[in-house]
Amino acid sequence: MVKVLMEDDADLGVLSGKTVAIMGYGAQGNAQANCLKDSGVTVVIGETEILGGKKNPSWEKAKADGFEVLPIDKAAEKADIIHVLLPDEVQASVYEGQIKAHMSEGKSLCFSHGFNIAFKAIVPPKNVNVIMVAPKSPGTEERKRFLEGFGVPGLIAVHQDATGNARDIVLAMAKGCGLTRAGVLECTFEQEVYEDLFGEQAVLCGGLSELIKAGFETLVEAGYPPEMAYFECLHEMKLIVDLVYEGGLSYMWHVVSNTAEYGGLSRGKKIITPEVRANMKQMLKDVESGKFAKEWIEEYKKGLPNMKKLREEAANHPIEKVGKEIRELFKKK
Ligand code: NAI
Ligand code: MG
Repeated sequence: MVKVLMEDDADLGVLSGKTVAIMGYGAQGNAQANCLKDSGVTVVIGETEILGGKKNPSWEKAKADGFEVLPIDKAAEKADIIHVLLPDEVQASVYEGQIKAHMSEGKSLCFSHGFNIAFKAIVPPKNVNVIMVAPKSPGTEERKRFLEGFGVPGLIAVHQDATGNARDIVLAMAKGCGLTRAGVLECTFEQEVYEDLFGEQAVLCGGLSELIKAGFETLVEAGYPPEMAYFECLHEMKLIVDLVYEGGLSYMWHVVSNTAEYGGLSRGKKIITPEVRANMKQMLKDVESGKFAKEWIEEYKKGLPNMKKLREEAANHPIEKVGKEIRELFKKK
């Protein structure tokens, strides 16, 4: 089993006298900046006051939360550790225009997702540390657990160690965010990115939503009421996943009825057929080869034409309409 790094493996002392610039006060930036500050780390926020012609609410929010807020280039100049928590697809151009000039010797460039380093959209100079601290959780949950005195698990990685203590620095960042309270695993940037992209495409986001829709469509096309199909294929998904989360698949099988257990165990493999498994293998290959990343970067540069079409298709699916009505009906009043 891989070693799980805990509180005693990390020393916040390596961050004393250092300034961490959190670039981007969004989902992760907000959570990590506040946790690090509460852990006694000196934090400044790098943000953009006017974004897309409008006042950027993240700039205001960071100020209201009591941080020193600077334009990204000024924050990069001031900081020893530059933690890039901007959306992955904008990181490369912001790095090029506002951060790169301030990557002087001995500084650390930090990320919470390895995308731009693993796919070489950002190529930092050799004389800086390149590190990653990736909480395995949405920002809101991370902050909530931290305030409860615990934390969420996370991953750390060192891509470049220019100072000889890059690993100590990233471990301290993880500790400051509360991650070593729950447990931290060490990996490479590539492992984190490939696994993460594959997981969200094949299983968590892509696979799950298509499975839900296919089940719903099968029932509705056969004449069952959409409301019933919604409950069966979407609403109950959460209840089943909660059981799996709590005690693994075997606990779920134990809790559901014997009929559900026999039906599921004997029929599930008919859904995930050898062809589906072959598709999964291909998806992983496309992630590892950089084919997916290239497509996504080009899509972003073109102004997201395909994404807009896909979003509209997804939003207009009948399951969304019936879901909205049902959730309204069953809301606590
Ligand atoms: P986000 O979507 O919340 O955006 C962060 C901030 O970036 C925004 O508040 C905005 O002020 C700024 N921003 C947006 N577009 C910009 C532009 N064009 N130019 C300059 N600034 C811009 O980002 P999020 O979701 O917090 O992601 C940050 C990093 O954390 C990413 O690398 C992501 O993969 C990683 N991550 C995110 C998780 C999550 O829970 N959302 C979980 C684990 C990792
Ligand atoms: Mg993920």
